[in-house]
Amino acid sequence: MIGSADFKASWSALQDQTQQQLDRLLPLATEPPTRLHEAMRYACIDGGKRLRAILVYACGDLFSADPQVLHVPACAVECMHAYSLIHDDMPAMDDDQLRRGRPTVHVAYDEGIALLAGDALQAFAIEILSNHESLSQLKTQTQLKLVSTLSTASGSQGMAGGQGIDIESIGKRLSLPELKIMHEKKTGALICASALMGAICSENNEIEQINNLKKFAKHLGLLFQITDDILDETSTDQALGKTAGKDKAHDKPTYITLLGLEASRKQAMLHHQRAQTYLEKIGGNIEFLTQLNQFVLKRVC
Ligand code: IPE
Ligand code: IPE
Ligand code: MG
Ligand code: MG
Ligand code: MG
Repeated sequence: MIGSADFKASWSALQDQTQQQLDRLLPLATEPPTRLHEAMRYACIDGGKRLRAILVYACGDLFSADPQVLHVPACAVECMHAYSLIHDDMPAMDDDQLRRGRPTVHVAYDEGIALLAGDALQAFAIEILSNHESLSQLKTQTQLKLVSTLSTASGSQGMAGGQGIDIESIGKRLSLPELKIMHEKKTGALICASALMGAICSENNEIEQINNLKKFAKHLGLLFQITDDILDETSTDQALGKTAGKDKAHDKPTYITLLGLEASRKQAMLHHQRAQTYLEKIGGNIEFLTQLNQFVLKRVC
């Protein structure tokens, strides 16, 4: 069971575990095509909070999944997330030079390699979910559910769809419901998929519990993107490891531009509270996830 007595130590142990598993699973940089493999590893290894992998581990733990089965789903969602970040940073999108405290992939390599590293990481995520031997104990239906959960969350109804709304909304004023939809898709979808994949790995998941988990993760996902919007306004390049202030510079609609700082913080608190309510409905040992929810809110409040 994931310990909750020392939240930071448990978080850090799960980060290390994710790092080791990614290192083990990703193609070696010495294996041709070496530059592409090097860029894939550059984007995934070293850095990042690992929120999504940690959600797979923690929700898997809550639903009593075999911990050995969780490594591949945890790494798959981190690869999918890393792909979304590589493309998000490219000149055609947010045109960012700094990510996780280092030059972005298209700066460290070039745009062609960045595009391909994103493409290859997306394919790799699905590849390991569908064929890795550590998942052989799962029923084929269960494994298929993992694949469809991650691919649906990443596609045009999920992350890529939200990113599509994002680039079409530059310079526009969205309503709060429109902004919420964009955030739920571009960021919430992968966060929801992470929580769900953990539970799917367990055979004992009742529909009511899964519905509560989905609602918990939906509010956590919104909370997470609201905090990202707030930090873009209030934090620094050094603290974030990415360029602060770029939403305003690029005229992006965010919670800050729509509501201002204080009302955005209130929205963060509201979604934190709602996430907590659904977490409590799931029951069981929710201590670690309670602290995770608190940790996300505390980044801005
Ligand atoms: C950044 O995600 C992009 C968003 C969806 C807001 P994270 O803040 O989780 O990035 P890393 O993985 O910790 O670098
Ligand atoms: C990105 O949102 C969401 C993704 C799907 C990558 P942002 O553009 O706000 O993320 P950051 O601030 O660059 O990390
Ligand atoms: Mg963006
Ligand atoms: Mg960005
Ligand atoms: Mg941002």
